[in-house]
Amino acid sequence: MAHREKNPRERELLAKANRVLPGGSLGNPAPDIVIDRGMGSHVWDVSGNEYIDYLLGSGPMLVGHAHPEVMAVVAEQLERGTTFFAANEHAILLAEEIVRAVPCAEKVRFVSTGSEATLYAMRAARAFRGRDKILKFEGGFHGMNDYALMSMSPANPAPYPEAVPDSAGIPRAVRDQVLIAPFNDIETTSAIIERHHEDIAGVIVEPFQRMIPPVPGFLQGLRELTEHHHIPLIFDEVVTGFRFSYGGAQEYYGVTPDLCTLGKAVAGGFALAAVAGKEEIMSHMDSGAVEPDAFMPQIGTLSGNPIAAVAGLKTLEILRREGTYPRLFATGERIKDGLQRLLDEAEIPAKVVGIGPLFDVFFTGSDVTDFRSSQKADSALLGRFNALLTREGVLKGSTKYYISTAHSDDDVAQTISAFEAAIDQLSRGSC
Ligand SMILES: Cc1ncc(COP(=O)(O)O)c(C=O)c1O
Repeated sequence: MAHREKNPRERELLAKANRVLPGGSLGNPAPDIVIDRGMGSHVWDVSGNEYIDYLLGSGPMLVGHAHPEVMAVVAEQLERGTTFFAANEHAILLAEEIVRAVPCAEKVRFVSTGSEATLYAMRAARAFRGRDKILKFEGGFHGMNDYALMSMSPANPAPYPEAVPDSAGIPRAVRDQVLIAPFNDIETTSAIIERHHEDIAGVIVEPFQRMIPPVPGFLQGLRELTEHHHIPLIFDEVVTGFRFSYGGAQEYYGVTPDLCTLGKAVAGGFALAAVAGKEEIMSHMDSGAVEPDAFMPQIGTLSGNPIAAVAGLKTLEILRREGTYPRLFATGERIKDGLQRLLDEAEIPAKVVGIGPLFDVFFTGSDVTDFRSSQKADSALLGRFNALLTREGVLKGSTKYYISTAHSDDDVAQTISAFEAAIDQLSRGSC
């Protein structure tokens, strides 16, 4: 067992965090660690312990931490000013690249976070349709805005399509404007859309919901249903954009939505996200293109700042290089398969769910296809497994492994050894 001791400095920082931050944290469910630095596929804590990093800053660090080429263009721009609240070359070129890469993107607007991007995408759908209701999927995560925080992780799920707020402080009126459907169940979703289509402004979905892939035909079915009723379909690609393929999940699964949101990888670790989509919907953000009462202002202090934009542009250039995606998928598949094999050998009921760049284990013997089936898994056991892995020098999010292009063969081998050690301890019931 590797022992990861904390030095006095890290203990002091954690104590200070408890005094000044609610819950002693930045809000994320990261373990009790203060990170000092990251390089490539590794991070180090303040006590000097090294970890193979599958948290990846919750996804943005797709080409690894502090990639030298990204750092070089950022350093160059730092000397030339960090934000202007005005058009700048890097932001214009990044928008052009998104239009080139992402099938649904005819126009792009930048924001600073994925939560803002989904908020604007849903508002654009409402401005376009002139209706109010949003249909989303149980278990789907779209960030922290009021409409998004519905039935993402309900302790007591309501009968479909009733929404359950995931946070205190959300007005009741918002809950009544959100309809909930089961992911991967096109029949139930279709029945809800048929019943409510007159009131629905848009349908928002993670095309790959958390760790759960869409079953064949589900996204196609959603596309057909929404097209039939002229309802904008929004793919939330904050996670999947530029990760599943260069054109995102819409390219990977071959289904083109009307709008999409992008974040994380698109800005290479800086604060930028985007909403992109069909011109007829995006034009509601152009006061010259629509009637005054159909206009939707969209402004943000740091939107399209040149630091994040140039980091994004360089990250995308790196991703476009020959062999990137096959290698990314192959690395992830080796880790994923290794984990499933070791759990099977230990006779621990578990399903490793997801695809190469993004997956995790559910401790259950049953298939995981939607939120309700995912709830049958033993989340306490997953928490214990994650904690054991941290002690073995593998850092990950509470419910995901994010793979980067920087993860090496050595990382894979060490990760598999860490799995072996952690599974051994799980089997003995020690943790
Ligand atoms: C699918 C999805 N949408 C939206 C968001 C929100 O993005 P942000 O954390 O940048 O607000 C996230 C964040 O993890 C996400 O996973």
